[in-house]
Amino acid sequence: MSSHLDPSRDLTTIAALNLVQVITTVHNRTRNCYKEIAELLQSKLYKWEGDAHNFNKDGPFIEIVTSPNNPDGLIRKPVVNSPNGRLIYDLAYYWPHYTPITHQADYDIMLFTISKCTGHAGSRIGWAIVKDKEVAAKMTKFMEVTTIGVSRESQLRAAKLLGIICDDCQAFSTNTKSQNFFDYSKRLLTERWDKLHEVVKRSETFSLSKFPKDYCLFSDRFYETRPD
Ligand SMILES: Cc1ncc(COP(=O)(O)O)c(C=O)c1O
Repeated sequence: MSSHLDPSRDLTTIAALNLVQVITTVHNRTRNCYKEIAELLQSKLYKWEGDAHNFNKDGPFIEIVTSPNNPDGLIRKPVVNSPNGRLIYDLAYYWPHYTPITHQADYDIMLFTISKCTGHAGSRIGWAIVKDKEVAAKMTKFMEVTTIGVSRESQLRAAKLLGIICDDCQAFSTNTKSQNFFDYSKRLLTERWDKLHEVVKRSETFSLSKFPKDYCLFSDRFYETRPD
């Protein structure tokens, strides 16, 4: 049994052949959730190995990269640089109202959720963009088995939200007075951040981190990261 990960084989096949180690970075609020998920089933196929910064084992592994990171909104890169690894990108916060979109996301497995786009937490509706068809089919099957199908109410809610965003963006392109959804969301977050800055400025106990400013390819301008 080889410990080398052949990129032509898909993730789930590799998991079946060899124990896969699952890791992520420590600056991540969702890390505990990944840990719980990885440990819950007590799978013999994979094992939670913790912080990617401390990972120095041989053998295949999966690194979960949350970029932009939760809670600081910063763009992150994989930590472990090894041909044995497969990367899963959690792009839940990859929206221009949180952080400047500095590059096009083009990874093998990318996960998204609608909740961070519109602020509808709890909808539990997301999507994945997966390059390998077989991996995508296995992910679909996994979702089917573990969720018994996605709730119809959530699907209707998500469809309504996506419809509103599309109409809004279309109206924006034909009528410059109308407000683009992403501009609206960005302004809302900026207002909240300005308020928070004002409050914290008066405090002697708390302070706020400085967030980087960058050029956003989507909005075509420079601005600071604004975590939610
Ligand atoms: C980084 C990250 N990924 C995924 C999720 C899950 O998203 P949802 O609540 O829309 O299922 C969260 C939720 O907080 C998150 O912070």
